[in-house]
Amino acid sequence: MTQNLSTIKDELAQVISAANDLKSLEEARITALGKKGRITDLMKSLGGMDPEERKNFGAAVNMLKDDIAALIEKQEAGLKKQAMAERLSKETIDVTLPARPITKGAIHPVTQTMDELISIFGSMGFELDEGPDIEDDFHNFTALNFPLGHPAREMHDTFYLPEDGDEKGEAAKKLLRTHTSTVQIRHMLGRKPPFKMICMGRVYRSDYDMTHTPVFHQIEGLVIDKAINMGHLKGCLMDFLQAFFEVDNLPIRMRPSFFPFTEPSAEFDMGCSRKNGEFKIGQGDSWIEMGGSGMVHQNVLKHCGVDPNEYQGFAFGLGVERLAMLKYGIPDLRTFFESDVRWLNHYGFDPLDRPNRATGVKG
Ligand code: DAH
Repeated sequence: MTQNLSTIKDELAQVISAANDLKSLEEARITALGKKGRITDLMKSLGGMDPEERKNFGAAVNMLKDDIAALIEKQEAGLKKQAMAERLSKETIDVTLPARPITKGAIHPVTQTMDELISIFGSMGFELDEGPDIEDDFHNFTALNFPLGHPAREMHDTFYLPEDGDEKGEAAKKLLRTHTSTVQIRHMLGRKPPFKMICMGRVYRSDYDMTHTPVFHQIEGLVIDKAINMGHLKGCLMDFLQAFFEVDNLPIRMRPSFFPFTEPSAEFDMGCSRKNGEFKIGQGDSWIEMGGSGMVHQNVLKHCGVDPNEYQGFAFGLGVERLAMLKYGIPDLRTFFESDVRWLNHYGFDPLDRPNRATGVKG
């Protein structure tokens, strides 16, 4: 019997070591240890033996079973190692090959400028809000104290959307917003003062030349509280423009103007010098016009459910491209919208170096 077991062991060992892939190794395992395998058969034969014989033979068969299982395990480890070595040798990468060039995109100057503005006004405690590009007459005009037929409406060169047949009157008429002042209304309606908000985004006017494009961007500011006056407005504009242009002493000049939604209204200029044909922002002999502003008109506050006897404040608006052109020396407004990659590579900004509240304007 012992002789028989060692023969079986040799035979099985041979089958196992001849298995040169995982599939034939599995077949070898079934031949030895499977339900109808050689060792299983030996186990079954134990039943017909007398106790003494069964004890010795059983122990020997168990040893054989363990030996065969160990051989299979060893063979399997060897095969897996070999397969891995083959795979690794096939998948090697020649690191001496030249790298494929990667093209890095650039951030558009409008995006850069808006990120800078958010960073500056964020640190001044302003909240950021937004409104839709497709507006209605109420938010773009009526609520901002442009009554129907008011001549100031004509100055906006408005793009109106075709009427959808479901006309609910003049106030529901759809248009592309002509200014971001619409967001003043959206921000105040349904909220309670005080307000300290900026918003920015695309605005649309039917106009096209060196300094006008049918789409451009504006930033709008709104501050409403119990004792806000024009001194706060001027100080706010001064702080913001000084931070944006990175100039320490930047004078601001206010000139009387007219906007339906502010009273009094003022356009504001910032100081600059134009000596010997060189333009420089800061204290100097000249002024450059920057934007519109004023104390929010009582009618606007009333339209938004704010009591003008208790609250008052200022608003201002200016062009984002204009800020970018002056800061980064970009001469033609129209180039902002031409999607010319050469222009973008030249005037664009590093996408990994964004301005933020933590690191400031410089990113
Ligand atoms: N909405 C005006 C425009 O587009 C700019 C403006 C003027 C905004 C005065 C204001 C403001 O908030 O107070 O021409």
